[in-house]
Amino acid sequence: MSRTPLIAGNWKMNGRRAMAADWVAAVANAIPIGVEALVCPPFPYMDVIRGGTGGSRLGLGGQNLAEEADGAYTGGVSGEMLVDLGCTHVIVGHSERRLSGEDDQQVARKCSRARDAGLMPILCVGETLAQREAGETFNVVSRQIRSVLDGESEALLDGLILAYEPVWAIGTGHTASPEQAQEVHAALRELVAGYDAGLAESLRVLYGGSVKADNAASLLAQPDIDGGLIGGASLDADSFLAICQAAAS
Ligand code: PGA
Repeated sequence: MSRTPLIAGNWKMNGRRAMAADWVAAVANAIPIGVEALVCPPFPYMDVIRGGTGGSRLGLGGQNLAEEADGAYTGGVSGEMLVDLGCTHVIVGHSERRLSGEDDQQVARKCSRARDAGLMPILCVGETLAQREAGETFNVVSRQIRSVLDGESEALLDGLILAYEPVWAIGTGHTASPEQAQEVHAALRELVAGYDAGLAESLRVLYGGSVKADNAASLLAQPDIDGGLIGGASLDADSFLAICQAAAS
């Protein structure tokens, strides 16, 4: 089955207004045919990006959302607000948020809030180096996915995107080998097939962790790698576009 590849840029807490304006001017109308692309900038720069995407194929996503709908939650950003800003997607459960205390139950609540608000969650899962060395990789990622899907699988699966991001590969320059990533991606698809075999076939599983213009093609050539979640390399317009190009070809 052919799944349109998705390249999502995650700027994390980086960038400035002027950089966002330059970036979107360079990227918005240069997305190659055959790939979907979106960028998840910091909340304060969403409007700058949105202003530059008019009529282009570049989508917009959030890096996080509140567990609650609008209300008295100082500092929160709701799914409805993200939709209002033009977002279609939101990253949920990134390891940097899990490391700062977000647990599986919160991740599950955020995924269902995202769906209720009309956003597609990009659910991130991944093991630490210690967990990989202990042979725990599959147990860890299965637990992370099951805690979201158990009980809510039907509502959530349609439109869900997964991102396998081994914690040891994020921002380290040590990417998983294409074979290591493919092994986990195939297992994730099989796990989802236990909930819904049809949706597992169309499910997109992105890889994230030190993806760069020069290693993207070999990762994306794997049969179960359907795109990338790109951190550091997404900040530079040329390298983001080069990764999009690798996904399109
Ligand atoms: P990286 O980050 O590409 O800088 O490793 C990926 C991510 O955290 O989504």
